[in-house]
Amino acid sequence: MTERRLSESGFPLKPVYGPADVPERDSEQPGEYPFTRGVYPTMYTTRPWTMRQYAGFGTAAESNARYHHLLEAGTMGLSVAFDLPTQMGYDSDEPIAHGEVGKVGVAIDSVDDMGVLFDGIPLDKVSTSMTINAPGSVLLLLYQLVAEKSGVPGKALSGTIQNDILKEYIARGTYIFPPKPSLRLVADTFAYCRAEVPKWNTISISGYHMAEAGATPVQEIAFTLANGIEYVRAAIAAGLAVDDFAPRLSFFFVARTTLLEEVAKFRAARRLWARIMREEFGAKDPKSWMLRFHTQTAGVQLTAQQPEVNLVRVAVQGLGAVLGGTQSLHTNSYDEAIALPTAKAARLALRTQQILAYETDLTATVDPFAGSYVVEALTDEIAQAADELIQRVFEYGSSVDAIEAGFQKREIETSAYQVAQEIDSGARTVVGVNRFTLDEEEPYEPLRVDPSIEQAQADRLAQLRRDRDNSAVTGALAQLKKAAEGTENVLHPMKEALAARATVGEVCHALRDVWGTYRPADRF
Ligand code: 3HC
Repeated sequence: MTERRLSESGFPLKPVYGPADVPERDSEQPGEYPFTRGVYPTMYTTRPWTMRQYAGFGTAAESNARYHHLLEAGTMGLSVAFDLPTQMGYDSDEPIAHGEVGKVGVAIDSVDDMGVLFDGIPLDKVSTSMTINAPGSVLLLLYQLVAEKSGVPGKALSGTIQNDILKEYIARGTYIFPPKPSLRLVADTFAYCRAEVPKWNTISISGYHMAEAGATPVQEIAFTLANGIEYVRAAIAAGLAVDDFAPRLSFFFVARTTLLEEVAKFRAARRLWARIMREEFGAKDPKSWMLRFHTQTAGVQLTAQQPEVNLVRVAVQGLGAVLGGTQSLHTNSYDEAIALPTAKAARLALRTQQILAYETDLTATVDPFAGSYVVEALTDEIAQAADELIQRVFEYGSSVDAIEAGFQKREIETSAYQVAQEIDSGARTVVGVNRFTLDEEEPYEPLRVDPSIEQAQADRLAQLRRDRDNSAVTGALAQLKKAAEGTENVLHPMKEALAARATVGEVCHALRDVWGTYRPADRF
C-alpha cells in the first residue's frame, strides 16, 4: 500500500492526480492577469533570472574584493549582507557592537565605507540588493551619495532594499523603532524613491525568514502578503496613489526541497497578489498587479553533517525556484550550515545556477509545469488556504495588530515544533542526519572573520570624526529630528546629514530620540 503523504502545508498528496483535480484554466497566459504563469510573457526565453549571490563580511574592502570576484565569475547582480551593528543602526565603535563587527556581513558606518564597498563597480549597470531593514533608507541614501559622486544619478540606479520591518517583528529581529514610525519611514521611502530613484525596488516583502523560522508554504505566503497589504495601506494613508508606488514593491521567498509544492506556492502567490492589488486596492497599472520576487534556497534544510550533500539539495531547491518563475535567485553554498561560505563553496553555488540557466532546457519555454495535474491542483489549494489565513490575520484588525497579539509567531512556532518532532522520531528523513549517516565526518576548515576588524573600523570612525565638519553634522542631525517630529519626508534631511558624513549610528540615534524603540510584548 502507498504511504499517505502530507505536503509541507499539510494537504494530503494523492498518489495519482488527474483532470478531475484541476478546474479549467486555459485562459491564463504568462504576462497577463492574474500572472499565475509568470510576470513576463516571455520569461527566461528572452532573459534568464538574475543570479544574485548574497555576500559580504569583514571590512568594506574585503567585501568589495568578493563582489569583484563574483561579477567576474558571472554573477548578474549584487546582494549585500551587512553586519548586525549596521542592521541595528549602531556604529562599529559602540559598546553594543562589540564582538559583532564584520561577522555576519560587512560593517558600514559612513559614506566613506560605502564608497570603498562599491569601488570600481559600475552602479549604472549592476543592480544591487541590500539586506537592510530598520535603517534601509539610510543605506539607500549612502548608495545614492556614492553613485552621485561617481557621476551616476539616482534616476539611473536599480536595486532593492529589503526595508521590510514587519517580518522583523515576526521572525528576524533587527527592528529599531515601534511599528507606527517604522511604517511612516517605509512610506517616506516609497515617496522619496518615486521622485529621486524611480527604478529602485523600495521593499522586498519577505517570507524567507518566516520559512526559516518554521513557517509552512501557506503560512509563508499568507503572512507575507498580509504584510504587503499593510504596507500598501500605510502608503495610501500617507497620501500616495497606489499606482505611484506599487510597481516597485518586490517580494522574497524560500525554495525548499519539496519541489512540486514550492512551484505551486510561487504560482499561487502571484495569483493572490494580483487579485489583492486589482480588486482590493483598485490598482490600474498592470505593473502594480505583478508579484516579482527573489528566491533563496532553504538554509534551514542544509546540514552540517556530510556538508557536500548540500550541493544536491541546493540544486533541487534552485530548480524549484526557476520552475516557479523567480526573478532573482541566491543558491546557498554547501558549507553555510557551518560558517560563512568559503570562496570555493560560493563559486560552486553560482555554478549550480549557471547549469540551470545554460545547460538545461529550462529557459527555452515559459512555465513548464502549467497543466500539470498535481501542480495546478496544489496551486489552487495553496491559494485558497493562504487566502483564508490572510483573512485570519485581518480578524485582528491589521497585520500589526496580529503581530502584537503574537499570532503569526505562534502559528510559525507550532509548525516548527512539528517538523522538529518528525525529524526526531524519524518520520521525516534528513539524509546524513537521521538516515544514511557516516560513522565519522570528514574534517572541514571553515572561513573565519579576522577579529582585528573591530579595532580597524573604530580607528576609521575616529579619523572620520576628526576630519569632518562636526558642526555641519550636528546641524543636519537637528534638521532630521525636526522632520521626524513633524510630517516632512525624513529622507531629504537624512541625505544632507549623511553627505556631511554623519554615521549610520548617529542618524539612527537621532531617530531613536524622537521615535523611541520597539519593545516586544511579554507574551513573546
Ligand atoms: N521580458 C521583459 N522584461 C524583462 C524580462 C522579460 N522576460 N525579464 C526581465 N525583464 C526586465 C524587467 O522588467 C526589469 O526591468 P525594469 O527594472 O525596467 O522593470 C529588468 O529586466 C530586470 O529584471 P527583474 O526586475 O525581473 O530582475 P531584478 O533582478 O532586477 O529584480 C527583484 C528582481 C525581485 C524585483 C528585486 O527586488 C531583487 O533583485 N531582489 C533581490 C533581493 C535579495 O537579493 N535579497 C537577499 C536577501 S538575503 C537575506 O535576507 C539574508 C538572510 O537573513 C537570509
